[in-house]
Amino acid sequence: MARHVLVVGGTGMLSELVKALAGDGGRLSLLSRRASRMAGADGFDCDYYDDATFAGALEAAVVRSGPVDLAVAWFHTLKTPAARRLAEQVQGRLFQVLGSAAADPAHPDRLGAAERTADGLSQCAVRQVVLGFKVETGRSRWLTNSEISQGVLEAVRADRALTIIGQTEPWSARP
Ligand SMILES: NC(=O)c1ccc[n+]([C@@H]2O[C@H](COP(=O)([O-])OP(=O)(O)OC[C@H]3O[C@@H](n4cnc5c(N)ncnc54)[C@H](OP(=O)(O)O)[C@@H]3O)[C@@H](O)[C@H]2O)c1
Repeated sequence: MARHVLVVGGTGMLSELVKALAGDGGRLSLLSRRASRMAGADGFDCDYYDDATFAGALEAAVVRSGPVDLAVAWFHTLKTPAARRLAEQVQGRLFQVLGSAAADPAHPDRLGAAERTADGLSQCAVRQVVLGFKVETGRSRWLTNSEISQGVLEAVRADRALTIIGQTEPWSARP
């Protein structure tokens, strides 16, 4: 069991995941603009595009609950200082939740680029979860929030290096 779990972006499609993690015991911190509205966890309101605010929220979470040994992060883009700041605070595993664009065959380096967020940080072990799509009875659709939360939870429990929820191939079949 992780002693301090921290989730970035846990108030939306990952809220079911957050509820499951809250039941595991240990400390649970949530970081997002309206994180404090969510019951069952320590919420730290911050905008991840505002570096100082995000850094302050991270520090407050660590002061309250200790080093982060499991982090799950859904950033709309990893090209922000916040993604690196989070990796710097993780002393354990960091699950990066990535949109389907991470699997775009036209950009084969996207998973590698995401992993490099933690370059040189020996205490932070990166895991990746790519949100794909589903094809059912010949029609393709995006994942539901529940499928996303359950898929990320399963990836965390199984501690896989790379998980694809649904499918990303053939790329041409995406909705
Ligand atoms: N491949 C797929 O199937 C796929 C991939 C991606 C998304 N989706 C779908 O698309 C829908 C919309 O995606 P979404 O990104 O809006 O997901 P979301 O998880 O519903 O909302 C974004 C999350 O990030 C937080 N957030 C957003 N901007 C932030 C900021 N600047 N600073 C800090 N936290 C921030 C939000 O919390 P606060 O509002 O509290 O800040 C919220 O927790 C989802 O419901 C999902 O079903 C599907």
